Amino acid sequence: MIRRLALAIALLMPGAALAETFSAAEREAIREHGPWPQAALSDPTNRFSGDPGAIAFGERLFFERSLSAEGDVACAQCHRPDMAFTDGRKTARGTADGARNTLSLWNVGQMRWFGWGGASDTLWGASVRPLALMAEMGAPPEGLRARLRQNAALWHDYRAIVGQAAEDADGSAVTATVGKLLAAYQETLISPRTAFDRFRAALLGDDPAGVAAYPATAKRGLKLFIGKGNCNLCHAGPLFATDGFESVGMPHFIGPGAVDKGRYGDLLTFRASAMKASGPHSDAPGPMLTDQARLQHKDFGAFRVPSLRQAALTAPYMHNGALPTLEAVIRHYSDLDMERLHADGAAILRPLHLSKSEIADLVAFLETLSAAP
Ligand code: HEC
Ligand code: HEC
Repeated sequence: MIRRLALAIALLMPGAALAETFSAAEREAIREHGPWPQAALSDPTNRFSGDPGAIAFGERLFFERSLSAEGDVACAQCHRPDMAFTDGRKTARGTADGARNTLSLWNVGQMRWFGWGGASDTLWGASVRPLALMAEMGAPPEGLRARLRQNAALWHDYRAIVGQAAEDADGSAVTATVGKLLAAYQETLISPRTAFDRFRAALLGDDPAGVAAYPATAKRGLKLFIGKGNCNLCHAGPLFATDGFESVGMPHFIGPGAVDKGRYGDLLTFRASAMKASGPHSDAPGPMLTDQARLQHKDFGAFRVPSLRQAALTAPYMHNGALPTLEAVIRHYSDLDMERLHADGAAILRPLHLSKSEIADLVAFLETLSAAP
């Protein structure tokens, strides 16, 4: 009955029929963006991955201020659960000012590289980085160990999970363990199904009522996203992201004479770090593919392709937080300055010269990739 009704409406309203119809190629492109949610991944380099006790303790650490150098900054202050694990600021401010926009932690367990420039290849490595950075929590390893031990209740519960090993460990081993406990918690942050996921299931399952329930403006935006916008070449798959680093023409100056080198600088940081999958603190050490990442000229000023899931909840945007709204991001792509692009980005990106209604359609589509938990 509903099926027939939808057909009748489609026949009576040719404009609507056009928006309702997706070609075989479009359906294939849409199929690539699911299913959702993806199964939680277990991290072999983190022995606490998936352990319920570690997850609960990691959540407690996430809100704990006493880990920071001055005892005044917690992870949750920048990664606010009520703000999609961001802070709403252009760039983060911890013990000192930072130059980058706070990344959301939704679906962070599904990444291969962490941070805007991929300075870490494990979630636990990325979780200890802020502890040492002044712009975040300013706590060097020995200080962290001492502060953890000073907090009797925290140390007691930490020991209960980590065991005797806790007593003998030096500062960097304790730091790695704290990172692993924090990571066990963050792996559980999987974003909910969205209007887009329901639409995708309806389209692939031949459910016209479900297809009809998805707004026409979002459908038009989706067609642009997988069509002339080429957005899905970078914002690909169920996460609407890739493992890669690209430049989309955002300026990377952070002050007079200072630049954020992006992937270029962060790959060097990664190589020098002990907190990595192949390093001494890993629970599955050995050669890793990530160690083979080669430094390339195009990495200079390139940043990770961010996931667009939950992005409607994480303004402002880009590595430096320079764009205040999703509409501003679309306008950036629409008016793209080709002189700012590297050859690779330029092979995919073109100024799109979108009309006002096309911009609104793309924003409407992006909004359907987010849902309150
Ligand atoms: C002062 C604000 C601030 C604090 C405090 C902070 N972070 Fe972050 N976090 C950031 C910023 C900014 C980035 C992006 C860093 C980069 O790209 O270099 C980030 C990135 C991350 C990432 C990488 C996410 C991704 O998608 O790759 C993880 C994981 C993370 N933080 C976890 C934590 C944990 C755990 C804590 C507490 C121990 C913490 N953060 C404390 C601001 C903060
Ligand atoms: C060449 C790869 C590429 C293409 C094509 C591309 N993007 Fe991006 N996108 C990126 C990268 C890289 C960033 C981060 C750039 C930065 O911070 O400097 C980004 C950032 C974004 C953001 C901000 C997300 C956040 O959390 O800050 C949105 C929204 C976005 N892109 C949407 C789109 C849309 C819509 C299209 C199509 C019109 C598109 N992108 C095409 C690579 C791409």
